[in-house]
Amino acid sequence: MRSESDTLSVIPLPLDIERKAGAFILSPDTTIVADAANQWNAIYLRTLLAPPTGFLLPVRGRETGQANVIRLQTGGDQQTLGREGYRLTVSPAAMTIEAPGATGVFYGIQTLRHLLPAAVEQRTLVPNVAWQVPSVVITDRPRFQWRGFMMDEARHFHGKETMLRTLDLMALQKLNVLHWHLTDDQGWRIEIKRYPRLTEIGSRRRGTVKSLFGKLDGIPHSGFYTQEEIKEVIAYAAERHITVVPEIDMPGHSLAALAAYPELSCTGGPFEVSTRFGPKLDVFCAGKEQVFTFLQGVLDEVMALFPSTYIHIGGDEVLKARWKKCPDCQARIEQEGLKDARELQVYFTNRIIAYLDAHGRRAIGWNEILREGLAESAIVQYWIGNRKAVVAAIQHGRDVIMSSFWRAYLDHSYSLTPLSKAYEYEPVFPELDAPDERHVLGLEAPLWTEMVPNRARFDYQTFPRLTAFAETGWSPRGKKDFGDFQERLAAFLLRLDQLGVRYAPESDVEPPRYKQWFGFLSIVQAQTKTAP
Ligand code: ACM
Ligand code: ZN
Repeated sequence: MRSESDTLSVIPLPLDIERKAGAFILSPDTTIVADAANQWNAIYLRTLLAPPTGFLLPVRGRETGQANVIRLQTGGDQQTLGREGYRLTVSPAAMTIEAPGATGVFYGIQTLRHLLPAAVEQRTLVPNVAWQVPSVVITDRPRFQWRGFMMDEARHFHGKETMLRTLDLMALQKLNVLHWHLTDDQGWRIEIKRYPRLTEIGSRRRGTVKSLFGKLDGIPHSGFYTQEEIKEVIAYAAERHITVVPEIDMPGHSLAALAAYPELSCTGGPFEVSTRFGPKLDVFCAGKEQVFTFLQGVLDEVMALFPSTYIHIGGDEVLKARWKKCPDCQARIEQEGLKDARELQVYFTNRIIAYLDAHGRRAIGWNEILREGLAESAIVQYWIGNRKAVVAAIQHGRDVIMSSFWRAYLDHSYSLTPLSKAYEYEPVFPELDAPDERHVLGLEAPLWTEMVPNRARFDYQTFPRLTAFAETGWSPRGKKDFGDFQERLAAFLLRLDQLGVRYAPESDVEPPRYKQWFGFLSIVQAQTKTAP
């Protein structure tokens, strides 16, 4: 059976594709006509097309009646297309992208990229290419409003250039949330002017111990973003209709902060920025008032920088040993009438949530924050365990983001999560009824970087699995088909070749069964012949 996407290799697969006869041929005389709302989109499209084609297409505000135009315009049915949908109509005379909002037009442009020859991704002139787009009518909108990628820059700092490139690659796949994990035990990566030691001390570690029984490599690792750089990344993302959600992990995964300000711990320290991975005994003290003053001070600067409604506050893997022995934490438990250290985490989390609420923001936390009494406004990001509680919470109206440890973690080996398993990941729990599905905001694929020290490894772990998740986030569930995806992926990989992305080769993404079984033994990708 021929699929409807046959010969059209759009990823993620659009809602509806209707093939027509003929093609539009891009030429130096093609004009871009854009209304006021789409002027930036017009410049973006022109900038995209100029280097490979050599055509600097003129942008006009209104039509002069001639053929050979690319129209970017506000319109279309809001009901059908929603906030992010668009309709792309290609005929030999014109290409029209119409959408209720500029975001939809931007996604229409991304689809257009996929319809053009892969050489369009080159940043230098490519001679002798027929820049032709097959005639088609595509009506499209996403399945989920939250289509995310999480980047851990605490374990290994990758820096601004890699993040800008990542945002471009996300846009190409219609992903719209960059969850930026900026703090952890092994590094604090965001400048906070009120607390300069966070980066002076917290952004550097002596070296790295790469495995449980390994030795310190003695190679210092450091790096952080100035507030100016953060603003630059956020602005670049906004132009690509991507929301950047910062994560300040608390009360656990906070040793880099405690190394800088040991008085915020239960014991007083001293500490060093961690050289080893895995959960730590020392966490922010939940009894000392100055911890909340500090975190609110940090969040003040975070909120001033990030326009995102959503602020991620971590909350994962919080060991309670220190709290159980700390007089301040115990006094807090007593005063607040809490039962135990677990309830103390709910108290801690709720205070931070209330602070964010009061500033018109919404907190997100990993699913460990979900316990009885958790403030209703908080969004839970599901990664592991506690499934029944998460399902019940959704049924009671809690919004969640899905990031299964077993299916959606990009740092995992291809043995544990082959491409096919990544593709088949279904973010909506089967036990949910249709009306509850609206509380599943969407999915996010996290890249934890303990074993991802450089861009080559970043590319290998992330691609092509992120492309599979992008399709799950966007395309109708009933239309997804792995075989069809693989055919379109082959064309997409040519595009990634042009963009210099060193994705995992076909020989690695679908390991034989016996290796998949061993995947459980080595969850993290081991160095292989091809893994950088
Ligand atoms: C996590 O992987 N600790 C959320
Ligand atoms: Zn304490």
